[in-house]
Amino acid sequence: GHEHPRSTTDGPLAGRHVVVSAGGTREPLDPVRFLGNRSTGHQGFALAEVAAQRGARVTLVAANTALPVPDGVQLVPVETTAELQDAVRAASADADAVIMAAAVADFRPAALTEHKIKKVAGTGPAPIELVENPDILAGLVADRPREGLLVIGFAAETGDEHGSVLEHGRAKALRKGADLLAVNDVSGGKGFGDQANALTILDASGEIVAGPVAGSKHDVAG
Ligand code: CTP
Repeated sequence: GHEHPRSTTDGPLAGRHVVVSAGGTREPLDPVRFLGNRSTGHQGFALAEVAAQRGARVTLVAANTALPVPDGVQLVPVETTAELQDAVRAASADADAVIMAAAVADFRPAALTEHKIKKVAGTGPAPIELVENPDILAGLVADRPREGLLVIGFAAETGDEHGSVLEHGRAKALRKGADLLAVNDVSGGKGFGDQANALTILDASGEIVAGPVAGSKHDVAG
């Protein structure tokens, strides 16, 4: 195994172990194709960086990111949802908090073909059958790898005819049961890449405990 880099920083999180997931999972379809999403990992990397600056030991489970690793952060690269789940649960066994900032694919192809899927002349495209992935966040709440582990989720929402961003966030807070849920307005392409972000933090009962805060992803990570 790898040694965790020891934090040389004093700070409010000294002696704490914080696990952050970042990026977006990819689900392979064949050797050259995957189903994925547009998450870049900026918010998760900013959270990891700020936690390390405040003295925490930080494990950053990163799905398909291409960002520089912040100082003092232990990177665990993963690709699929199954790999992300294994890495997050393993790192959380001695952690104080886990922050699920990764965009996790809710579904994956039912079968992974060993050979590249070929286009067959005269026939249309074959449908892609999907199966549901585990909900990693809900699993951490239901079965905490460490007693007292603080479980924090993210909710990327757009308002729709059924409710506002905050209303969807409240419903998700109640459904997921995480200790804290950071609700993020991603309507109109907001919150993607290195753009500014705006967050409101809810507790498990859907009450606002912080925010709204707006600013760079580094600012809101604090
Ligand atoms: N999440 C997870 N496992 C999944 C899907 C999501 O752990 N299979 C986590 C994300 O990392 C995030 C939170 O759950 O912290 C909310 O993710 P989001 O995609 O907004 O929620 P969903 O439950 O997938 O709801 P929606 O119907 O809005 O997609």
